[in-house]
Amino acid sequence: MDEEHSPFLIGTTVSGDSFIDRENHRERLRTNFRSGLNTVLISPRRWGKSSLVRQVALDMAREKDVRFAFVDLFHVRSEQEFLERTTEAVIKALGKTMEDRIADLKKFVRGVVPQIGLGVDPQSEFTLKFNWPDAERNIQDLLDLPERMAKAKKVRLVLCIDEFQNIAHLPDPMGFQKVLRASWQHHKAVCHVIYGSKRHMMMDLFNKQSMPFYRFGDVLFLDKIKRTDWVRFIKARFASRKKAIAPEVCELIAERMQDHSYHVQLLGHVAFLHSGRTCTRAVVEMALDDLLNQHDALYHRLVDDLTTPQLNYLRALLNGVERFTTMDTIRRFELGSSAHVKRMTMALEQKEVLDFVGRKTEWIDPLFKIWLEERYWGSRLRMV
Ligand SMILES: Nc1ncnc2c1ncn2[C@@H]1O[C@H](COP(=O)(O)OP(=O)(O)OP(=O)(O)O)[C@@H](O)[C@H]1O
Ligand SMILES: [Mg+2]
Repeated sequence: MDEEHSPFLIGTTVSGDSFIDRENHRERLRTNFRSGLNTVLISPRRWGKSSLVRQVALDMAREKDVRFAFVDLFHVRSEQEFLERTTEAVIKALGKTMEDRIADLKKFVRGVVPQIGLGVDPQSEFTLKFNWPDAERNIQDLLDLPERMAKAKKVRLVLCIDEFQNIAHLPDPMGFQKVLRASWQHHKAVCHVIYGSKRHMMMDLFNKQSMPFYRFGDVLFLDKIKRTDWVRFIKARFASRKKAIAPEVCELIAERMQDHSYHVQLLGHVAFLHSGRTCTRAVVEMALDDLLNQHDALYHRLVDDLTTPQLNYLRALLNGVERFTTMDTIRRFELGSSAHVKRMTMALEQKEVLDFVGRKTEWIDPLFKIWLEERYWGSRLRMV
């Protein structure tokens, strides 16, 4: 066992030992996929959507007739790219070797001759490029390709589409969603899992009656991992490298990062690097200090990008205000008017500072919250 190498993983999807259970959600996804139910998965950034879906794919890896194809719409800006990335993912998921894949391309892609680019490892990496007029003419056929291939190969295909809200950035988002939905609803061998982090945008796509994807499937809101699970996880991660950490110190790591998946792993990682045989409270505080230093310039820029009333809103929030539209709060924190408050919440959500989950307000970056409290305002925070 490598005792120096950090047992915490950040910035990649996690699975296996690095993955905390989420057994309820996993079970629900497995059931949905087995019964072909489309699923929409929503959570604020970096709570663990992509990891969850990857883990479920691993859970089901032994099931003979199920395959998973992964598409990330993060960089997709046109319908052509959407079709290229989806086709690539499906061809990859349903063919083992490059020879199989080339044969599948010839057999299943009709009406357009794709250019194939091979990556560093030609056995696993390749990209497709379509000639748009041809692909556009055959769009229906290309959209049906996952269904045709899954049927021909007698498997159930789970088509996983990450960052789905990006569909709103395509040149004709409504038109394309209509075409997609019309095609997908006839699919029997393919089930779709669609996930994304811009809650408002996602909700608009799936919960508005006027939208093509209205009532598309089972909508699931991912919640945060529980404190008790974090404590167990952090302890086990340290133990795997023969280091000790008391439960209350594990709790401190999770608590300081508000149980936010990415940030708990990040603080765990830095605390691990700072600790000798034992990780103490002082080590965690030192690690946090380090992280705040590293992010200082970034957070200063973030603050520069906020208006004074937006900052006042954040200050009110940190002072424990829950009702922002009362006369007293508006006066005390100089929030303008209740109409301003509404606009501010929208702007703060759009700038990815806050997310409003039901009645709860979540900080998208829990480290930024600490930075504002302890470095930006410090003792001035409460002087209002
Ligand atoms: N179940 C889990 N157990 C432990 N750590 C997790 C878990 N899920 C996520 N994480 C941590 O959170 C990080 C972000 O996870 P992931 O990329 O899956 O989130 P996401 O919601 O897809 O993020 P984004 O909104 O940026 O796409 C991971 O790199 C990992 O450190
Ligand atoms: Mg993700």
